[in-house]
Amino acid sequence: MDELLDKYLSKEEKEDFLSIIKPIFESEEFKLRSTDKYTHHDSITLGEHILEVAIITYLKCKKRKDVDLKTAVYIAMMHDLYTLPWQNNPDNVVKYFFNKHGFRHPIEAVINAVNWYPEIFNSYDKEVLIDGIVHHMYPMPVRVYNDKDLELRCKDGIDGENEQILRDSTNRFRIGDISLCRSRFKEGRIVSMADKKVTRIHLRNANSLTQAFTGRNRNLA
Ligand SMILES: [Fe+2]
Ligand SMILES: [Fe+2]
Repeated sequence: MDELLDKYLSKEEKEDFLSIIKPIFESEEFKLRSTDKYTHHDSITLGEHILEVAIITYLKCKKRKDVDLKTAVYIAMMHDLYTLPWQNNPDNVVKYFFNKHGFRHPIEAVINAVNWYPEIFNSYDKEVLIDGIVHHMYPMPVRVYNDKDLELRCKDGIDGENEQILRDSTNRFRIGDISLCRSRFKEGRIVSMADKKVTRIHLRNANSLTQAFTGRNRNLA
């Protein structure tokens, strides 16, 4: 993790960045995702992936006066906080095609983040946070949050205002059970671009690309 921080950030930037991400970075759920139980692409852990996306988001937003830097960094830190490791995992197998990890995981990330970091959702604009997480995969579609069984793996649910925002966000540009659009907010669109950039860095070989679609990684035990 330190290597990653030093690769992109000056000493001052590193201190500032770490103070922003602290409530998530030091949480048990994030630490768990930084172990080799959670490999994301190739052999990179989910925690490393998320951190790299958050660093790139931070650097992009620092140069701009028209975006809220902390909101964008929090979207980045929460965008892939899905429940189960997605590669080679029989517990992640679902019945319905559009409930597969690729379509479903942004919804799990929203529900988990709302439950794990309520203080962030109470202090920053909930709509910008949730919409940014929901549509981070664009131009890949996301599962619509509706009353059908989404086969979610979250331990907790979502209700009230947060649930309504999630419902409205996934119902934009809806085609059946999927929604295909960018985030309505600049902060979310910046995270989505940073996510694509980081994914491109690590999906260099054909095997990594195959993994991303099938959820099977031959390089893992
Ligand atoms: Fe994702
Ligand atoms: Fe990601």
